[in-house]
Amino acid sequence: MPPLLEISDLRAGYGQIEVLKGISLEVQPGEIVALIGANGAGKTSTLMSISGCLRPRSGSIRLAGQEIHARAPHEIVRLGICHSPEGRKIFPRLTVLENLQMGAFARSDKAGIQQDLDHAFEMFPILKQRTTQAGGTLSGGEQQMLAVARAMMGRPKLLLLDEPSLGLAPLIVLKIFEVVKKLNDEGISILLVEQAARMALKLAHRGYVMETGEITMHGPAANLLADARVQAAYLGG
Ligand SMILES: Nc1ncnc2c1ncn2[C@@H]1O[C@H](COP(=O)(O)OP(=O)(O)OP(=O)(O)O)[C@@H](O)[C@H]1O
Ligand SMILES: [Mg+2]
Repeated sequence: MPPLLEISDLRAGYGQIEVLKGISLEVQPGEIVALIGANGAGKTSTLMSISGCLRPRSGSIRLAGQEIHARAPHEIVRLGICHSPEGRKIFPRLTVLENLQMGAFARSDKAGIQQDLDHAFEMFPILKQRTTQAGGTLSGGEQQMLAVARAMMGRPKLLLLDEPSLGLAPLIVLKIFEVVKKLNDEGISILLVEQAARMALKLAHRGYVMETGEITMHGPAANLLADARVQAAYLGG
């Protein structure tokens, strides 16, 4: 079986500036893979490239063996990759329910959508109490839950999560990580970008370390957690 996601020698950037300098990365079916690195390393740009929002200059991105790097974002969603972006990007004037429905825009299976909606409310009961509230008036933690739930509404094979813990209180972070684990137990593969590197590596099966647009280390998450260089640079010594 080919990897679920296979990125090979990917280069991408903005204008004159190249920010991804030939990165290669894989996610196997059923895996949680953590991508860690300092601010500006290119983590968000990597996820944006996968979901078709940033056009690669060269290299390839394959989903289950199929080349996707030239596809439009909405096609990539249909193929099974959904993205919970950095900064949540909730539609502020739409209600919670409408935000969730937007996550299912590529689908027409009404019964399945309703099932996934129920499932989202089960995972995040607070959202069920807030279905008619405008997304922009939710708390930061509630918005993050909504962003993850909205991505789930596309029924992804691969879920891209960009900094789901950013700016949240420790208890909410635990709750989000718990849901990530549950979704993975249900069979969804996850590529997790996190500043909370220790938590991410504890949850993940494997990890990649990114520095200024290049992957500098990768391996089983336990090995990265135990690595002195990773500890010094990303885990607070
Ligand atoms: N739209 C853009 N236009 C120009 N440069 C950009 C744009 N988006 C990102 N960059 C630059 O690309 C580089 C990588 O940014 P990226 O957001 O991918 O990093 P990151 O690893 O996600 O960082 P952080 O941890 O701060 O979220 C940075 O130098 C950034 O300034
Ligand atoms: Mg980022």
